[in-house]
Amino acid sequence: MGKISNTRIFLIMANIESSGRDGFTSKFGVLAAAAGSAIGLGNVWRFPYLMGQNGGAAFLIIYLGIVLGIGVSVMLSEFIIGRSAGQNAYGAFKKLSPKKPWFLVGFMGIVAAFVILAFYSTIAGWTLEYIYLSAVDAFSGKSSDDLQSIFVSFTQSDIRPLIWQLIFMAITAWIVYLGIQKGIEKYSKILMPSLFIILLILCVRSLTLENASVGLNFMFNPDFSKIDSSVILNALGQAFFSLSVGMGALITYGSYVNKSNNLSNTSFQVSIADTLVAILAGVVIFPAVFSFGLDPKEGPGLAFVVLPNIFQQMTGGVFFAVLFFLLLAIAALTSTISVLEVVVAYFIEELKMSRLKATIISSFSISIIGVFCTLSFGAFRNFKIFEKTIFDLMDFFASNILLPLGGLLIVVYVGWFLNLSLVKSEVTNEGTLKGRFFGVFIFIIRFVAPLAIMLVFLNGLGIFN
Ligand code: TRP
Repeated sequence: MGKISNTRIFLIMANIESSGRDGFTSKFGVLAAAAGSAIGLGNVWRFPYLMGQNGGAAFLIIYLGIVLGIGVSVMLSEFIIGRSAGQNAYGAFKKLSPKKPWFLVGFMGIVAAFVILAFYSTIAGWTLEYIYLSAVDAFSGKSSDDLQSIFVSFTQSDIRPLIWQLIFMAITAWIVYLGIQKGIEKYSKILMPSLFIILLILCVRSLTLENASVGLNFMFNPDFSKIDSSVILNALGQAFFSLSVGMGALITYGSYVNKSNNLSNTSFQVSIADTLVAILAGVVIFPAVFSFGLDPKEGPGLAFVVLPNIFQQMTGGVFFAVLFFLLLAIAALTSTISVLEVVVAYFIEELKMSRLKATIISSFSISIIGVFCTLSFGAFRNFKIFEKTIFDLMDFFASNILLPLGGLLIVVYVGWFLNLSLVKSEVTNEGTLKGRFFGVFIFIIRFVAPLAIMLVFLNGLGIFN
């Protein structure tokens, strides 16, 4: 080997070492990790119950419009910020726009991560209890009413839900501590496709139930008179929540993506996969809701009451129930990891903590807030502010306020404040990709998305009509 190539190798090594950051190793790894973040309880638990409360098909149509018209572009914007800066959500803004207040957007994302993980871990804990209940065959022979009271007495009890929540937080912290790429990349690649296949099997069972068509009608036959500004705000909040955008989770993940990745394709593929899983979850849940005479407006318990009903009417129900809740727990885990990583990356890079210390401090403080969310189904269930429990309030604040606001500022930043040639170079990988939709993308993030988000947001909050 000649002298030159030795020097070159040295330079490359030095470069890798000086950046000193984890990174995804393959294109599919990026896709799996980002889809792992996007696909979670938002799809299987939150989407169906919101759809049930917000008029069914009409909600779905608005949701799809928002994902395609705005969501994909917000996602791409986050990836652009993250990859070009190579920093955590807060540091990225500081690096790209030093001495400007844009870092506040990153900071808001850190706050949102605290709030989201606090209430998300409550539901994630429920999935663990349901793995256990499935395994001990607690659903067989039970009526809808029985299954409902199993759910209610579990969520209202003082200790069990808390223990599961803390266990879930501990697992999340453990994986984040280990460093994300090996764990997440490897697991997401196997688990996401498995979840998809089980959902398909459940679809078949649900669609062959009596009265399945009533559920399908509810899902796909829109009644536009049901649409009002709060329905639209809920759809916007759900779209951002489900795609994991608006708080810098994908800025953080983007910073681990290598320069040869086609960011537009990744954004599009992740959004499609995420939406497919949400629709499949709806196709499992709604036919069953109507077939078992349950109420689609049931709220956060919807999936946890309906799914056991389906399982106990299936051959091999115990097996499928265990498998399903296991996969749901893991889907939730690949999401909680991405939320915690936002905070941990910030603590490490900005506050100069070790990964261990950052993980312990962040997961511990989030768990403390989380306890209140869990208890708001039990001991604190009658404590309400603006007619909302603590849980509902945190969810509303994060999903319907922080995420849309974050998404708005992110697209405005990339559209109007980030150097256009830098944006173009990120989208086209320095001119090596065609970037056919670049013009559309810029138009969306400059005009369509900011206007739409602002209108929906102010309208939905009743500030402007
Ligand atoms: N998208 C995940 C879900 O649907 C939840 C989630 C993960 C998230 N990371 C996020 C939500 C970042 C908002 C922002 O389950």
